[in-house]
Amino acid sequence: MSVLFQTGKYFLRKSYSYSFCKYVLLRKKSDVPRKFITFDEIVAQRRAEARRSLVVQVNSESSFDELYGYCSKYSSIKDVYHYKNSGEEHFMLIEFSSEDNLQSILQSCCSHQKDLEVMAVQSPFVWFRASDAKEKLTANGLELRVKDGNNKYSEDVLFDDLMKCQTVSEQIQMLYDKTILNDVGARLRYMVARQLEVILSSLYTNIQVLPFGSSVNGFGKMGCDLDLVLTNSLTDEMMSPSNRLVYQEKRSDSSRGPWQRHMELVGALLELRVPGAARVQRILNARVPIVKYSQELVDVDVDLCFNNMSGVHMSSLLYALGSLVPAGPALAVTVRRWAAAVQLTQPHPGRWITNFPLTLMVLFFLMTQKILPTFRRLIECAGKQDVRVTEDNINCTFVRDLSRLPPHSYQPSSDNLQTLLLKFFEFYSQFDFQEHAISVIEGKPIRKPNTLPLYIVNPLEPALNVSRNVSYEECERLKMEVRNAAWHLEACLDNNQADDWGILGLVEKKTTRGLKKLLRAGNQQRLVSVKDLFKDDQPETTPGSDRE
Ligand code: CTP
Ligand code: MG
Repeated sequence: MSVLFQTGKYFLRKSYSYSFCKYVLLRKKSDVPRKFITFDEIVAQRRAEARRSLVVQVNSESSFDELYGYCSKYSSIKDVYHYKNSGEEHFMLIEFSSEDNLQSILQSCCSHQKDLEVMAVQSPFVWFRASDAKEKLTANGLELRVKDGNNKYSEDVLFDDLMKCQTVSEQIQMLYDKTILNDVGARLRYMVARQLEVILSSLYTNIQVLPFGSSVNGFGKMGCDLDLVLTNSLTDEMMSPSNRLVYQEKRSDSSRGPWQRHMELVGALLELRVPGAARVQRILNARVPIVKYSQELVDVDVDLCFNNMSGVHMSSLLYALGSLVPAGPALAVTVRRWAAAVQLTQPHPGRWITNFPLTLMVLFFLMTQKILPTFRRLIECAGKQDVRVTEDNINCTFVRDLSRLPPHSYQPSSDNLQTLLLKFFEFYSQFDFQEHAISVIEGKPIRKPNTLPLYIVNPLEPALNVSRNVSYEECERLKMEVRNAAWHLEACLDNNQADDWGILGLVEKKTTRGLKKLLRAGNQQRLVSVKDLFKDDQPETTPGSDRE
């Protein structure tokens, strides 16, 4: 009996990303935070967890005892989590007590039997071989911490639960609690980053693979994609002029950008060397070249780019603002769900708005209500320790530890979530999109510098518009849908008996609602044609990107 490395030959079926996380903040409910866990601290903690963790494919949940017994012979175990991927295969995510512990278990791993199609690879994804050994190994009573920890909450159950809520505020909170990326989802995402880091570090020195975007900014839902950045971080010591022995290094002689070629290579490595990586796509001519793939062992779709550190700093900014006022993420989750339901957003980028600018719209609205401080305030409060300038000279300096913000930089809201959501839709129903841009730097509308239909200032690169891809038609649809949403919410304040009351009428797809009504009416005859209702659900496949 032994633990085996997953090999490049390993192949699973279909992949969707179901994952989630929840960050614990040291604060009292609806109180001014006393101590923030900063983004950098969370990232360091998650990376350390990943360095001492292993993902083990097992036969079933009942393999837990045997696996626990086997691994604890080598190392002490801190936690074990169970999850299934969409191929219904079972996995245990094991966190060992220390990185040294993990090293000793890794040394006990072996490779697949000799097979010319398989090249051994030591990644933190392994599988547990069945054994006939008589030896009985047990978990000594330790229970699985999380059952099905990476699975999405059933939509039907969710809508039924939303139906039973007493108030719209309760619905918003429930939607957030049930759909936000959870701890296991976050851990697994850092494992995907760790896997690449381990495999690529045999080729590149000082490589770091860092998650950014909704997986780490506190606004991500179960199943959101995983944005990763590959960075080559050189320490001051490594560049010290007093070191007389200097590596011979290869200079790229290609006329094409060297990083495009590195990303090409990474694409090939993903196909050849990374267990679980499938459907690798290279999008190398974009401003930010990316390689997309699916990590099937974790069920997550990954977008990997190189050295785009501003994305990480942007995530740090969103995380900080989201952790300052819990209403922010709860509102943003509802708004993102609503936008998907009315098809303002689509699974693929195109001429429509995406989740990131929508999140900025929510934060901007909260700033106009003085519930959040402006980004300018965060810049003013930055200290020496907050200075960050990216390699391409983008100044990402702003205060990271928000407990250092002076009092009265923002005021706790007296409005509940229901009122805030209604105010959000009313605010944008009246917003002058033609004349004004949305700027979280100023926290108030500013004059648009050009005639693009929707202008949302990129806070880290103020000359850029994060919604410059949005067409006139899509902006008009946005204006119409915010008005519809405001009407709907106002109407249901007096009537919570309707089957689309509160946020149900906003976050349930209209087609799904139509089908449910028919089902409730028990109209079997018409069910045949109900399939037609879903035709509208098909995603557009227009290629493109929302990134500037
Ligand atoms: N980003 C940015 N500037 C842009 C677009 C994106 O800085 N113009 C950064 C943001 O940090 C954003 C991240 O890239 O969060 C990932 O972008 P994207 O995947 O489009 O958005 P997410 O916030 O991850 O939302 P989703 O759940 O839809 O993936
Ligand atoms: Mg993303």
